[in-house]
Amino acid sequence: MNTATTIEELRNERNQIKGIVGLVPTMGYLHPGHISLVEKARSECDYVIVSIFVNPTQFAPSEDLSSYPRDLQQDFKYLEEAGTDLVWTPTDQIMYPHGYQTWITVDQLTQPLEGQFRPEHFRGVTTIVAKLFNVVQPQCAYFGQKDAQQAAVIQRMIIDLDFPINMVVCPIIREADNLAMSSRNAYLSDAQRKAATILSKSLFAAHRLYEEGERNATVLKESISQIVQSEPLANLQYVSCADPLSLQEVDKITSGALLSMAVYIGKTRLIDNILLK
Ligand code: PAJ
Repeated sequence: MNTATTIEELRNERNQIKGIVGLVPTMGYLHPGHISLVEKARSECDYVIVSIFVNPTQFAPSEDLSSYPRDLQQDFKYLEEAGTDLVWTPTDQIMYPHGYQTWITVDQLTQPLEGQFRPEHFRGVTTIVAKLFNVVQPQCAYFGQKDAQQAAVIQRMIIDLDFPINMVVCPIIREADNLAMSSRNAYLSDAQRKAATILSKSLFAAHRLYEEGERNATVLKESISQIVQSEPLANLQYVSCADPLSLQEVDKITSGALLSMAVYIGKTRLIDNILLK
């Protein structure tokens, strides 16, 4: 497995690669959710590049940038086992050198859901992902449905800025008790970890109502809200039933919907979602 830190090192490697390059952007502290993206890339591409960069510009000052979990040694081990060809670990100074002042923003899609509570977040995400795309120049890029709005926003950016990149969105990987895997799960105490199953429990219950024929979005959201409220350690920030393409709230589900939510378990903010097809 090759490694690169600087843009020059990355470009030197990149220039020697023939065939299809797949990029998996990550912030590290890797778990099987991340590795599922690497495996998908491995199965579709000739050369798999994984970036690890805890991107400071997507964290608000009040958020968890300084405590974000990191373990590069373990990440490298997992990536090697998954057949990664190159790991790129740039530094803050490399990605945002002194004087940096250029940003990519996607307008409407970044406003609802996460955007209501993390107003600067997606500007940081699209800016760093655009920079990763420009340096790596992959033909394919892999993202997780776990961050459904992020995937929608990046897909929009790829189209709008004419990146010649095929974006692949991979399904959510869950723990045995259905908690969506996340680097932030590491923050949870044992009791909080048990309480965190309320996210998937409530989403899956709403999914069952949908399968039984319920099409009223308010009914589905109410059901989720009630189930989350039954868990004393959980605090629902929002629950949404939105059109999967526009991310605008729907009243009645006619052709599928994205049910999504953010919940605080103590100080830890967790997100989860399910697609109603
Ligand atoms: P990070 O949270 O490290 O996630 C990297 C990728 O792994 C994202 O595409 C995310 O959706 C995916 N992922 C995380 N948990 C997953 C799970 N349980 N199942 C499937 N996929 C999962 O998302 C980011 O980093 C950053 O915003 C980034 C895109 C790297 C830009 O900084």
